[in-house]
Amino acid sequence: MAYRAASPVESAFRSLAGKPALPPLWLRRHAGPASRFESAARDAAAFLDGLGLVAPDHGVLDVGCGAGALVPEFKRRLGPEGRYLGFDVHAPSILWCRAAFASDPRFRFEIAAVASPYGRAAGPSARTYRFPVEDAACDLVIAKSVFTHLLPGDAAHYLAEIRRVLRPGKAAVLTAFLFEPERLEAVAKTFPFDGAGEGVRWRRKSRPTAAVAYPRALFERMIADAGLRLQWMSAGYHPGAERLTGQDTLVLGV
Ligand SMILES: C[S@@+](CC[C@H](N)C(=O)[O-])C[C@H]1O[C@@H](n2cnc3c(N)ncnc32)[C@H](O)[C@@H]1O
Repeated sequence: MAYRAASPVESAFRSLAGKPALPPLWLRRHAGPASRFESAARDAAAFLDGLGLVAPDHGVLDVGCGAGALVPEFKRRLGPEGRYLGFDVHAPSILWCRAAFASDPRFRFEIAAVASPYGRAAGPSARTYRFPVEDAACDLVIAKSVFTHLLPGDAAHYLAEIRRVLRPGKAAVLTAFLFEPERLEAVAKTFPFDGAGEGVRWRRKSRPTAAVAYPRALFERMIADAGLRLQWMSAGYHPGAERLTGQDTLVLGV
């Protein structure tokens, strides 16, 4: 509520300071720390560049795209034949993206009309949601800071959908909080609650999907069960990470 009330004032200050227009503060806050909205997207894009995962003609799927933080990055990288589709359960974010990027026909946005603490309260389960893309149609799937909000049933289904839409030889990049059960004592300080089974933990008792952490072996098994292969992992949360970025980044292939 406070972020929503402050949004018009913040937008006016940005405009007066000559700063580029961004989604309103409350939509940026919905997607994470508002102050990191642009820089986190830049970091993610630099990560993709480092692995050579974006080409101008790519078809990109952005799972849980929020207020389109990655869109300016893909606008710069995709050529005229490139395509981007972002979907999210949060209708206000999608409606904002549709209006803000309407002039670029390469970019499309869909509302995932499923029940979610991040979207509408009622509706079909996310476990039944079919990503709005044909089989093997994507050259890059990205899910940045989305599996950190999914409990195991939804996460397993989303991994299976990623497998369905990913073109063989191409990559999916997702972030998650992974941990080794031997480090439970340290992990439990940040993720004190459990009960979803198989050691999955979360941060806020009243709202498990606010931040979910998976035992690494379980998440790797879910990846394999979906028919995906873990090709590379950059440890961010996982104990032993050289640089604590807050989330682990995983590169998956078919
Ligand atoms: C931390 S935000 C990240 C947003 C965006 N990926 C970014 O990096 O700016 C998590 C996003 O996932 C969305 N989300 C949560 N559950 C979802 C689901 N089951 N399907 C699609 N999106 C979901 C939320 O609405 C939110 O926009």
